Parts: sequence; structure tokens; C-alpha cells
Amino acid sequence: MIRLQKFLAQCGLGSRRACERLIEAGEISVNGEIVARQGVTIDPERDRVRVRGKELALEQRVTYLAMNKPVGVVTTMRDPQGRRTVADLIPERVPRVAPVGRLDFDTSGLLLLTNDGELAHRLTHPRFGVDKTYRAVVRGQLEADELAALSRGIRLEGFRTQAARVRVVAAGPQRSVVDITLHEGKNRQVRRMFEATGHTVIALERRAFGPLSLGNLRAGAVRVLTAREVGALRRAASKAEPPVWKSTSRSRRATS
Ligand code: URA
Repeated sequence: MIRLQKFLAQCGLGSRRACERLIEAGEISVNGEIVARQGVTIDPERDRVRVRGKELALEQRVTYLAMNKPVGVVTTMRDPQGRRTVADLIPERVPRVAPVGRLDFDTSGLLLLTNDGELAHRLTHPRFGVDKTYRAVVRGQLEADELAALSRGIRLEGFRTQAARVRVVAAGPQRSVVDITLHEGKNRQVRRMFEATGHTVIALERRAFGPLSLGNLRAGAVRVLTAREVGALRRAASKAEPPVWKSTSRSRRATS
């Protein structure tokens, strides 16, 4: 037995919270009866669940893919400007999936796609702290204080980046190669972080997402994740970071 909102999320209808709202709105029926209250459990093998009258089936639908997104492809399933999208790279007969977060048009590398809305939410929300590692080729050579600032966190327009891991792979006066691991995913964040230290990004590739590496997946290729890989992703996404406690006189007393 499985909770109804969990089943709906696994069928790709959004995060569990979004699925709870669908239930509240009376959009879901189980065996022909509208279920508008929370806490209902179902048997996915036997119960017939419909969303606005359309039947859902778990087994054919929960799909997890890894793609090596090439440069020059947009991370959407449809593009009004007619550019190449990640949907163009997905083989036919694969159930409908959505990208987990996004990579810029000019970024390449590991992109996950799934219709498991709950896992997608956890993999991208900074609260769950799932690492994403990028390899950046940047102009010039980073000084020690610039590397320290990148790893401590730097101020970008309107926010401060969280701590990151930074590793120089190769350094030269013209260009350097730097690996950076972070668990946030603000718009063009890595590019903006390097730009803020005075080093333009020439090329950017995502090499790892949580426990999964890009490996030797060739540019433009897509593969189905193994059950073991999905399990590893779930474990990585289940560790919510503890809230950051402010040091108050009361908390200091409590720990002394
Ligand atoms: N950071 C960026 O700047 N671009 C990406 O595509 C991903 C992370």
C-alpha cells in the first residue's frame, strides 16, 4: 500500500505537496469515487486512480533518464523559438518526463530527466543539499583569495552563495580548469560566481549530480538509470540539511 499523494507524485504529477493540492481540489478519484481528503492509501496494483477522469498506472510511467546534454540545446521540452530541445534527444516511446533542474543553452553535461515529481523536487531544492559538480574552463588564473571567496560564498545580485568545494585542475595565465561543487542552482550561478571574481567562463560542463557521474555517456546520448542508481539518488536526496540555528543566549546556555 502507498499513500495516494506519493503515488501521484511518482506518476509525474508534481511534488507531494502539489499532489495534495490536487486531492484537496477534488481532482482525484479512486475506484470511481472522488477522494478529497488526505491520508488515503492505495494499492497501485489493484486500485484505479484517475486524474480528472484520466487513468494513471505507475508501472509504465516512472522513468529516470540520464542525458549528456550538448551545448546548443535548450533544457525544456518545447521551445517557442524553434531551437533544439532536450525532448528532441529522447527516444520515442519513452513516457513523458521533465528535466530535473536546468542547464544553460551553452552548458553541456549530465542532465537527469524523470516524471517522479517528488524526487525531482528533492534533487533540486537546496534544503536537501544534493551536490552538483561542474567543470569550468575560465579565463586567466585564480588567486588564492579568489578561490577562498568562491568556496566561502560570494555576494551576487541579491543573494550570497552558499559554501562550495573548489578544486583547481589546471592553471595557466590564459585559462584555467576548475571543478566546483555546490548544491544550489540559481540562474547561471556558476558563470556568475566566476564572473564576480573577474574570470569569464569559456566552457561549462556538469560532471556529476549527487552520486551519479557523467561517465563516458557521449554528447547527446540518453540512457535509463539502473535501479541501483535511482536508489542512490533517493538516498542522497533524503538527507535534508538541518536548519541553521542562530546562536542566541538561550542556545548557548543549553549547550554549555
Ligand atoms: N551554473 C551555470 O552557470 N550554468 C549552468 O548551466 C548550470 C549551473
